[in-house]
Amino acid sequence: MEAESLKVSLDRLREEPFASVLCYPKPSRGELEKRVKELGKLGVSVLEFCGEKQVSNLKVLGKGCVGIVVKAYRGDEAIALKIRRVDADRATMLHEAEMIKIANSINVGPRLLGVSKNFLLMQFVEGLLLPEWLEKCLSKTRLKMVLRDVLEQCWRLDNAGLDHGELSHAPKHIIIHSQGKPFIVDFETASINRRPSNVTSIAQFLFISGTVAKKIALKIGERDKEAVIKALRRYKVDGSRQNFESLLSVFSL
Ligand SMILES: Nc1ncnc2c1ncn2[C@@H]1O[C@H](COP(=O)(O)OP(=O)(O)O)[C@@H](O)[C@H]1O
Ligand SMILES: [Mg+2]
Repeated sequence: MEAESLKVSLDRLREEPFASVLCYPKPSRGELEKRVKELGKLGVSVLEFCGEKQVSNLKVLGKGCVGIVVKAYRGDEAIALKIRRVDADRATMLHEAEMIKIANSINVGPRLLGVSKNFLLMQFVEGLLLPEWLEKCLSKTRLKMVLRDVLEQCWRLDNAGLDHGELSHAPKHIIIHSQGKPFIVDFETASINRRPSNVTSIAQFLFISGTVAKKIALKIGERDKEAVIKALRRYKVDGSRQNFESLLSVFSL
């Protein structure tokens, strides 16, 4: 089925079904008006309803507990717009923006392009979520390169003291760009006040338990479980570059 997309300018966002995406799950006049103005101030001119997920019968890039993510345009630049849900347990998007800024400083995450109370503008990552990408990836070398890149990004996060917080089960938090680069997304629950466990969490998800780990093992072969556990334990005690590299070699990456 060919994915249809629908481009809508700001003025039309006051109408349904668009209003319900801008103020998900339920719009009120006042909130809707505020949000349309807020978008205008950010320089967003058009929203494009496309993607694999659906909200109010409209296609969107993604949906989570905090936000609805849609493709949008600022001038003629395509961007990803995260819209704060009206029922989100966060009052603003500012915390997430701060966390993405730190991630960006070590080349992790989609580029932060703007923020306001209810919106976060970021680089649009066109691609597939890891589980779907896995189904399509036929090259073992390519898969290994992507896995290594994800682990390297997690190591940089650990080293910077930024804990993502949702990587032990991350089917919706790694997007593989059409050109092959993996992007870690959703820094909503990220924190600089916890001991970071990005590498150990993602290792769990990619190599130890769950359907993704099973699929990866089928493609690149089982790892030596005992050696993995040992290397992870060592890394947990001391997240040095050396211990990280031993971990990579246990994974044969
Ligand atoms: N920069 C982006 N480019 C493209 N799609 C994205 C981007 N950021 C998030 N998404 C999609 O939107 C979904 C929800 O985003 P996420 O940040 O996880 O929201 P929530 O905080 O509500 O969970 C993601 O799982 C992903 O599929
Ligand atoms: Mg999420």
